[in-house]
Amino acid sequence: MSKKVLIAYGSRYGSTEEISQEIAKVLENQGLEVQIVDLKKTKSKDWPPIEPFDGVLVGSGIRIMKWVREPQEFLSKHKGEFPKKKLGIFISSGFASIPGNREKAKQDWIEKVMEKVGVKADLYDAFGGVFDFSQSSRMGGLDKRMLKMAAKGMSKEFDMKIDEKGRNDFRDWNQIRSFAEKFAKLVKS
Ligand SMILES: Cc1cc2nc3c(=O)[nH]c(=O)nc-3n(C[C@H](O)[C@H](O)[C@H](O)COP(=O)(O)O)c2cc1C
Repeated sequence: MSKKVLIAYGSRYGSTEEISQEIAKVLENQGLEVQIVDLKKTKSKDWPPIEPFDGVLVGSGIRIMKWVREPQEFLSKHKGEFPKKKLGIFISSGFASIPGNREKAKQDWIEKVMEKVGVKADLYDAFGGVFDFSQSSRMGGLDKRMLKMAAKGMSKEFDMKIDEKGRNDFRDWNQIRSFAEKFAKLVKS
């Protein structure tokens, strides 16, 4: 029987959602059975139990230095069960769009959360984010303005090219797929 992985994520503007979908594809190609749950859109009473899964991946976007509330709640809720599973954690963040920032992003937004919640992931990584200033963006006006200010700062500090009217996707899909492949190996081992 194939092993099972649950991907439980919280995404405000869709970046972590698309990352979760890509990870799912990779895991399925590796012969794993995958279920994805959008923790923000699903009432907490309807979140799936993690008991049937061999591996669990929890993902969150970062907004004003913080996780989406629900994936953090999900980690807390199941912290007693994770030692019996393979646990992976990932985030999508504007700051982690620069490869040199990823270690700091992992420390600030994954290691600190693991410490706070009291869980230890077998694998974790920080992925870049999306700065979507296009007409079709899911961001509200205030969020767009805040992100534009942050983007201005980042483009100066890190010499990033940011289109202030378009969709800027700074996710590294090779990094994401390689994370998923490593997680598949862990679950299958
Ligand atoms: C209002 C706002 C605040 C943000 N704050 C941060 C931040 O503090 N640090 C960071 O690295 N990225 C920040 N970002 C960028 C997001 O992390 C990035 O867009 C990410 O891809 C969002 O993931 P999601 O679409 O799954 O929510 C912010 C974005 C917005 C719109």
